[in-house]
Amino acid sequence: MAGAIGELRAAFPGERVVLDEERLAEYGKDESDLGVFQPGVAVKVESAGEVRSTFAIASRYRVPVVPIGARSGKSGGSLAIHGGIGVSMERMNRILEIRPADLTARVQPGVITGVFQAEVERHGLFYPPDPNSLDLCSIGGNVAENAGGPRALKYGVTREYVLGLEVVVPTGEILRVGRQTIKGVAGYDLTALFVGSEGTLCIVTEATLKLLPRPRHVATALVCFPDVDTAAQAVSRVLAAGVIPRCLELIDDVSVQAIARGSPFQLPPGAGAALLFETDGNDEEQVFAEMARVAEMVRGSASGEVVVAQNEAQRRDIWETRKYLSVALRKLAAGKLSEDIAVPRSRIPEMVARCREIGKARGLLVATYGHAGDGNLHCNVLYDGDRERGAADAAVGEILRAAVDMGGTITGEHGVGLAKRDFLEYEQGAAVVALERRLKAAFDPLGILNPGKVFPET
Ligand code: LAC
Ligand code: ZN
Repeated sequence: MAGAIGELRAAFPGERVVLDEERLAEYGKDESDLGVFQPGVAVKVESAGEVRSTFAIASRYRVPVVPIGARSGKSGGSLAIHGGIGVSMERMNRILEIRPADLTARVQPGVITGVFQAEVERHGLFYPPDPNSLDLCSIGGNVAENAGGPRALKYGVTREYVLGLEVVVPTGEILRVGRQTIKGVAGYDLTALFVGSEGTLCIVTEATLKLLPRPRHVATALVCFPDVDTAAQAVSRVLAAGVIPRCLELIDDVSVQAIARGSPFQLPPGAGAALLFETDGNDEEQVFAEMARVAEMVRGSASGEVVVAQNEAQRRDIWETRKYLSVALRKLAAGKLSEDIAVPRSRIPEMVARCREIGKARGLLVATYGHAGDGNLHCNVLYDGDRERGAADAAVGEILRAAVDMGGTITGEHGVGLAKRDFLEYEQGAAVVALERRLKAAFDPLGILNPGKVFPET
């Protein structure tokens, strides 16, 4: 490591090479609850050329390189589990251009997603992917993880909006892949491969993103149910009725308890579960007609009226309550393991029930909430400190396998990273994982880029 650090110090201005232990510890954290894994040194790059130089140094000394974004990841993708050089993208945070006539934008990876969204909206445009961490997370991280969010139900995930990328591969080439146009099928779709590659194939240094015209009207509503099973069944009914709301989020009974402890929007007393949904479009009447259609589908089983947000402040309170569920749940137990499985939508009620049973069998509370409309559920296993950690890990394993057994996936939006690498083969099978390992070796023959992620270590 000492040789690599010496070369980095010669190649970069002093203030961009971080060696201070406290600051390195900050670069070694994320939102995965997996612990602190700090790099031996961090370098704040400003260009693709600097990423290339870093790869050259790392290759000479055979030290790992770990791309570090905004550290909001939930699967440990940016944790430097083998030390090495942390490449922080924080200084590459410029929106390079917004092209309203082409409905595209070019951005650097360090741009904060929420900042980018606000900026395109000033132009009357719309960038739909909305991970819950959008005030903190960056486009580069969203691309690496192929991030989703509530609006994915109608608008799809990050991959749908990435037209092209500039990336640096560990062998040192700076590559422009993909296109600037909406259509384009030349060659292999390397853009699609890099999106969601979790920082194991390349480091993204620029992205060309697709934009949409901003929908002029949005309606937000909340409806309560006596219990989570009834709410989950209502999700399937809504989706079968020919309306795709832009969001359809489930809040289960355990999450309702967490909300009761001081979230901005309070659910009516006695609520056992809730659905939050949103419709949007340019024609106000149609937006409300769709909302009415959803209301019609849930009315029979709901435990109260559909509450439609009357103004921006109410909308914000409803969303803040949903957004901070992950934080609110921490108040119910000392520890929490948060998963993001996805199942075919018709299996949602069954999956919700399975999560509860799996928890119950081990004496643990499981909160299930999230993007039920697209089958993507956040199952949170709550546990009481070290004493129950083993049981919680076992419950998580059962939940992941149950999702796969129902035709689903171990991760709908957070990535495999470090957290779920031991379960990838259960989902994909040995032959597919072996092919993925060969692909990884083609891009990274020395195995220096983010080792130990996605696949179990050999
Ligand atoms: C959410 C994050 C955990 O949806 O993905 O709250
Ligand atoms: Zn989510």
